Amino acid sequence: MIETEELEFAPRIVSAQNTEEDADVEVTLRPQSLSEYIGQDKVKENLAVYIEAAKRRNEPLDHVLLYGPPGLGKTTLSGIIAHELGVNLRVTTGPAIEKPGDLVSLLTSLSDNDVLFIDEIHRLSRAVEEILYPALEDRVIDIIIGKGPSARSIRMDLKPFTLIGATTRAGQLSSPLRDRFGVIQRLELYNCEQLTDIIRRSSMILGIPCTPDGATELAGRARGTPRIANRLLKRVRDFADVMGNGEITKEIATIALGRLEIDKLGLDNLDRRLLEMIIKGYGGGPVGLETLAAALGEEAVTLEDVCEPYLMQLGFLGRTPRGRCATKLAYEHLGIPLISGEDGQLTL
Ligand code: ADE
Repeated sequence: MIETEELEFAPRIVSAQNTEEDADVEVTLRPQSLSEYIGQDKVKENLAVYIEAAKRRNEPLDHVLLYGPPGLGKTTLSGIIAHELGVNLRVTTGPAIEKPGDLVSLLTSLSDNDVLFIDEIHRLSRAVEEILYPALEDRVIDIIIGKGPSARSIRMDLKPFTLIGATTRAGQLSSPLRDRFGVIQRLELYNCEQLTDIIRRSSMILGIPCTPDGATELAGRARGTPRIANRLLKRVRDFADVMGNGEITKEIATIALGRLEIDKLGLDNLDRRLLEMIIKGYGGGPVGLETLAAALGEEAVTLEDVCEPYLMQLGFLGRTPRGRCATKLAYEHLGIPLISGEDGQLTL
């Protein structure tokens, strides 16, 4: 399901936000089993044990919270979990569940041990969350019938089920909700080798010829995110068709990514503007996130969820209680001379 709100601020090719075009490709490319899923080894190993144990006991899997930056495969992983458990998967998002009644009808429509996946679970309303607590803990829901003094509450039993919640912002989850997940797993950005494998797998499925070098070139610029890797594959294919013989080689990839203004490390204009603003506008930082967002004319959440995780992984950006700082590496990457005492690392 796609939020219009997300689409509003997702025009960048290296945005990790999901778009309708991605959704179509993602469904085709989505691995079905844990063994097909590349990367996130620790998460996979743990989940394999929990899934096997739940199956042996014929019980539902404990409720699972998956968190981490967008585009890393939280929805894909929930599909795999349901598939491995041999149960149905129901997919929804926090903002799509507007009223408590919406959640009640979802929960009562589940069969034994089914998986309910709620993406962006941090965006559930308080009233909906209240329904979820007894559902998660005691497998019951309390429905209020009537209004005013004659209102009464009926308790209804639910079938055993597993909730998988996904969020990019675990810190925004209320602690009563967070505490009700037995399994909490953080998804990490992928390394270049894993992204190369993902691109090679995708290119085989989509029938896009791609040399090993070509795949590595795309992987290195996909900012640790499979969704971006697959999007680059599709875009660069156009260049390969028009400028070459259809095969994605290192040369074609380099030309295409240059045209898309994605640099060697996968930074695009917004990433570079962000770093430049910290350096040229605020002496390397620290500068508050809201100030930066206003100066760049961007949403603070876009900077925080989409730009910052990767810039931090590259060691270009530091977060301090007083704000964001650019590091020496960021100055070097942008080719801006460093004035002593100015870079974020010295003030971290
Ligand atoms: N496509 C997107 N993410 C993937 C992953 N982690 N493994 C395999 N294919 C993928």
